[in-house]
Amino acid sequence: MEVSGKVAIVTGAARGIGRATALALATEGARAVVLADVRATLSQETAKLVRTAGAEALVLETDVAEADALRQLFSETEERFGGLHILHNNAGIGEGTTPWPEVSTERAGAIVDVNLRGVILGTQLALEPMRRSGGGAIVNTASGAAFTPLPPQAVYAATKAGIVNFTRSCKPLEDSHGVRVSCVCPGLVATEMVQETGTGGPAGWLQPIIDALEMLSTDDIAASVLELIRDPKSAGEVVTVANAPRVPAQ
Ligand SMILES: NC(=O)c1ccc[n+]([C@@H]2O[C@H](COP(=O)([O-])OP(=O)(O)OC[C@H]3O[C@@H](n4cnc5c(N)ncnc54)[C@H](O)[C@@H]3O)[C@@H](O)[C@H]2O)c1
Repeated sequence: MEVSGKVAIVTGAARGIGRATALALATEGARAVVLADVRATLSQETAKLVRTAGAEALVLETDVAEADALRQLFSETEERFGGLHILHNNAGIGEGTTPWPEVSTERAGAIVDVNLRGVILGTQLALEPMRRSGGGAIVNTASGAAFTPLPPQAVYAATKAGIVNFTRSCKPLEDSHGVRVSCVCPGLVATEMVQETGTGGPAGWLQPIIDALEMLSTDDIAASVLELIRDPKSAGEVVTVANAPRVPAQ
């Protein structure tokens, strides 16, 4: 699908990967980008960048863990822009500074609600608006953590594995609804999420992993998301964006 002239929603668009995707969609000629995040003030900064790149921007404060908030997001988007073609289900949280299994029960539940429930309900609620708009493309953000044990972030890793098989299971939605669902699995990306695993920087368990790898940029992931949106064969596809090993300085 060509991005030019389309209406898109990006969740988790206040910063990080979501901000980069919102900006890339605008640069590629999207007509409007709706920025859905719990951080409304920071989302306004993304909105400014989107407008400067030539698209309309609308900030809708949205908690993707809440079905009613998602319903409101889709109805306001359709009402304001007359349709919906692209959804990047990207909002996500991890264990933060308290690793599994010490992480609070509330936080563990929230990780499942935001990362997995948010993606599932977001996909479900986007289907009818997209069908009414003549079809659409949904890209979910999973993670390289979907494929490898990550003991300090066991809940996070479980949700990301869930997104991968949910995405594969959504392949038939292309035929039934004209909606292609795919997902991107980034390796380590230089964002606040990584910094916030520890107090004042990355967690002790994460630092050796960071030291061994070249960090990806948010633009690397946005480029992959746009490729999946454009690719007519992306239904059910799971694409990994891996880190290169860091070459030690001579
Ligand atoms: N940074 C990495 O190394 C990395 C690697 C693989 C996957 N990811 C995934 O990429 C996505 C984006 O992560 P990021 O690195 O840009 O992190 P980030 O923390 O910078 O951005 C996440 C955004 O999601 C928003 N958010 C959190 N809870 C929300 C909720 N309930 N409803 C709506 N918005 C909410 C935050 O406010 C924030 O703006 C996440 O799904 C993350 O799991 C990140």
